[in-house]
Amino acid sequence: MSHEDFPTDEPAVVTCGLPYANGDLHIGHLRGYIGADAFSRALETLGQETAYVCGSDMHGTPVAVNAEQQGVDPEDFALDWHEQYKETFPQFNVEFDNYGHTHDETNVETTQEIVRTLDDEGYIYEKEIQVAYDPDADQYLPDRYVEGTCPYCGAKARGDECDEGCQRHLEPGEVEDPTSTITGNPAEYRERTHKFFEVSEFSEFLTEFLDGLEGTSNARNQPRQWIEDGLQDWCITRDMDWGIDYPDDDAGGEDDLVLYVWVDAPIEYISSSKQYSERVGKDAFDWEQVWKGDGEIMHVIGRDIIQHHAIFWPAMLEGAGYNKPRGIAATGFITINGKGLSTSRNRAIWAKEYLEEGFHPDLLRYYLTTTGGLQQDVDFSWDAFQETVNGELVGTIGNFWYRSLLFAYRNYEGTPDTDVSEEVRKRIQDAIGDVRANVNDYSMRGVGGAATELAQFGNEYIQRNEPWKLDAESEEATQVIRDCVQIAKAVAVLLEPITPDKAQALWAQIGEDGDIADAHLEDALEAPPRDFDEPGELFEKIEDDRVDELTEKLEERVAAASDDDDAETESDESTDTEADGMSDTDDLEPLADERIGFEDFQELDVRVGRIESAEGIEDADDLARLEVDIGFETRQIVAGIKQLHDLEELPGEKCVLLANMEKAELFGVESNGMILAAGEEADLLTTHGDAAVGEKIK
Ligand code: 2FM
Ligand code: ZN
Repeated sequence: MSHEDFPTDEPAVVTCGLPYANGDLHIGHLRGYIGADAFSRALETLGQETAYVCGSDMHGTPVAVNAEQQGVDPEDFALDWHEQYKETFPQFNVEFDNYGHTHDETNVETTQEIVRTLDDEGYIYEKEIQVAYDPDADQYLPDRYVEGTCPYCGAKARGDECDEGCQRHLEPGEVEDPTSTITGNPAEYRERTHKFFEVSEFSEFLTEFLDGLEGTSNARNQPRQWIEDGLQDWCITRDMDWGIDYPDDDAGGEDDLVLYVWVDAPIEYISSSKQYSERVGKDAFDWEQVWKGDGEIMHVIGRDIIQHHAIFWPAMLEGAGYNKPRGIAATGFITINGKGLSTSRNRAIWAKEYLEEGFHPDLLRYYLTTTGGLQQDVDFSWDAFQETVNGELVGTIGNFWYRSLLFAYRNYEGTPDTDVSEEVRKRIQDAIGDVRANVNDYSMRGVGGAATELAQFGNEYIQRNEPWKLDAESEEATQVIRDCVQIAKAVAVLLEPITPDKAQALWAQIGEDGDIADAHLEDALEAPPRDFDEPGELFEKIEDDRVDELTEKLEERVAAASDDDDAETESDESTDTEADGMSDTDDLEPLADERIGFEDFQELDVRVGRIESAEGIEDADDLARLEVDIGFETRQIVAGIKQLHDLEELPGEKCVLLANMEKAELFGVESNGMILAAGEEADLLTTHGDAAVGEKIK
């Protein structure tokens, strides 16, 4: 099923994975919330009625374990973090239309109502299962109270997720060699009766759902494999006090079951939409039109929670008679100076720290959006941040804005009295078209790119026409500056989703009233007001010594954390969340002990290639056939990337391959070389400069 392009006539909801209310926010969180905020704003610039809703994830062991460590009540603990998040997000211009939490009345009621419906519809049954138990602590060990080995990939895993390996959700009893995280003792298994949701009944529905799903390729493709492997039913209750009671369970008893946190967490997307409707009135926003009618639902999540959003959640929605998501965008990992973000090692950029350093939030918004957008991995270093800010924001956009408006102010006291030229009108129209296409493609990187390229065009245009060499009274000079003012306005409109404050400041500088967030893309072509005041510069260069100082500070605190015995033994998970796109060096394959000589290395003929075509190999689950240009010839290569990449997007991409790999035949297709890739997701290696196709890597 293909969807009508945005903007549609129906209202839309954009959500971002709820943060566990259990610790400080950092750059790993921010990239998701900023990305989704930019996406929601961008949809609005297209004229799409959009609500951006979210809330804090208050329940489950991620909160209970941390609260217990601090000796506080989980509700007080979670509410405290919730209040802090409510303050922090707007400081990054992340403006939710509603920000609730999963423990509020709306969510408790909505969750119980949905579970009751699933039960009434016959999708829930009871089963005796083995549940981990710690006899010393005299307590059952749900989820993060137990650790062991993932039965699928052998990595160290938590009770309910293989967070360091294949990222699968694990059912109670699945983790091998279970150990209690309370006492460190081996856990026992005890029999308990729990409630199960019949996810397996939804295989066919989910296959069709995925066929029509928009968003990033990982979210659309990975779940197919899980369906092919056979879906298991899902245990939706836990032996815990902290959580939402199972609706039919008697309240208060010792053995009462609460719902698994992953049941009530996504339901907050609905509850938060309801609260927004209640606040603004159904005429302004009707949550039912979205969740029970034909509205549009788009989720932005970390890529480690794809299974919850692309399998469990749509099955719940279908079973309970709700509308399903139109798109799921799953963000990539974030690294700091090329290494995995680690909260326990303090290798992170904390939200508060960034603001305390005095940087404007829009700078980080621009960096995160244009380097990673909603899908790509992001590496943050203060150097790279400086390069982007100084190069693109100061050098390209700020420079263009300032010099064109200053010229206009000094010579015409505002917008010159003439119409914009055809060339410039057309260029702005093309940029609008680009933004529209990129929003429909869930590419916020593309949206940022379209705005920056338009500013770059503006710089070239002013440079090419050299108005400073012309008589300001002349028609030619008037035209050039009139065009530049229009381009400046258009850049602001296009950039608003990404740098809302800075776009607003430009808006005010050209004399526009009101809020630029209310502008639509077409407003980029409307003439700016006749008069405006002297402009000021909107971006400031980051100096080298500032970057050195920040880099040093970061290195020092990472070193201090590594020296600290506590940090060595402390669980990384204490302030960890799954929605934050982290990877940790603990997870990496150990370095090889044996060294090889340079000659051995030289025997590897590693080359730069360009993918010409990519298609899946029939009957092979994971394999794709690629044609790769390696300068001298085009090679046919078979690679295990069918489920992990959107094959249609690969042609044109540069890659790195081992050209003298022995030939092999896979599923009857000859493979003449090996594409190099990293990690579980087969992140394809490439080059970043101008290395030619065929160039040897040495
Ligand atoms: O992984 C996490 O951090 C969860 N708190 C995300 C929940 S998203 C949704 F389902 F609400
Ligand atoms: Zn695993």
